[in-house]
Amino acid sequence: MGVLDGKVAIVTGAGQGLGRVEALELASHGASVVVNDLGTAADGTGSSEDPAHRVVKEIEEAGGKAVAAFGDVSDWEAARSIVRSAVDTFGDLNIMVNNAGFSRDGMIVKMTEDMFDSVLRVHVKGHFCMIKHTMDFWREKSKADGGAPLYGRLISTASDAFLMGNLGQPNYAAAKGGITFLTLSAARECQRFGATANVVLPRARTRMTDSGPWAAIFQKPEEGFDTFAPEHIGPVVAWLASPHAANVSGNLLQVWGKHVRVFERPQAALDHENDEPWTLESMQAVLGPFFEGKKPIEDSFALPMA
Ligand SMILES: NC(=O)c1ccc[n+]([C@@H]2O[C@H](COP(=O)([O-])OP(=O)(O)OC[C@H]3O[C@@H](n4cnc5c(N)ncnc54)[C@H](O)[C@@H]3O)[C@@H](O)[C@H]2O)c1
Repeated sequence: MGVLDGKVAIVTGAGQGLGRVEALELASHGASVVVNDLGTAADGTGSSEDPAHRVVKEIEEAGGKAVAAFGDVSDWEAARSIVRSAVDTFGDLNIMVNNAGFSRDGMIVKMTEDMFDSVLRVHVKGHFCMIKHTMDFWREKSKADGGAPLYGRLISTASDAFLMGNLGQPNYAAAKGGITFLTLSAARECQRFGATANVVLPRARTRMTDSGPWAAIFQKPEEGFDTFAPEHIGPVVAWLASPHAANVSGNLLQVWGKHVRVFERPQAALDHENDEPWTLESMQAVLGPFFEGKKPIEDSFALPMA
């Protein structure tokens, strides 16, 4: 008996990297999995059906159930057909893991319109399309069941770029911020169906992080525990998808190696109500002391990994 027996999941971008690990993990706990992948290059160009086929085969060889669904998550109709393939093949949809994406890094002064648009499109519109078609299905299902709560989990993929606004990733940081707040809004809405929505912030070695400035941070150690192995990310996705997390919604979970951190909604660092309407001088009287001694955000690439 697996904790996800009888549940149906979609994992987008599951042909390799983190999505592959997540699809294998969900299947190992009993979920039937739709393996979506467009099979792009690391910069989002091109397409191939091979990666999704390979992961379906891996799941089946391990005794699980899976089907491939190609298609671009940021294409409205393709996203609808990925959702349909879960329902048509396995009869339901319970777990929607939005993971597909790519990065096209560069400083703002070097960034082209296409670099910005393509990264926003795959992440923000891609998450929206899949969440929208999933929630449409849940709405109809809930109505048909007289409003009874259903088993629903939305899991989104953000990044440190959202937490820190990484230097050289303005498009990706904006996209991951968009995903985070899209998911918090979805978390409020999907409660009416009995569903939850949360965000995962992974750190792992994949083709996205095994080159360029990231390679040194994420490299595999010659010996000892491999902190950035992508396999460490599977269990948090399975946990959020499981009955254990029925009341967990609207949270951000950061995971790497043996670490897990939970972030809640942004908290105020200063919360002050003035006696009188604001003037520049009274603003200075409150904010001046608050910011005294605090440094502006650093002009540095370094990711604080601790
Ligand atoms: N690797 C990390 O440390 C890290 C950190 C933070 C966030 N992330 C996020 O994790 C997710 C997975 O990244 P990864 O590191 O496994 O990268 P990856 O390149 O190994 O895998 C991404 C997969 O998404 C697929 N894909 C790309 N565009 C698609 C589209 N339009 N429709 C369907 N599939 C598409 C690709 O074909 C690829 O198989 C991404 O959202 C990424 O931003 C990764």
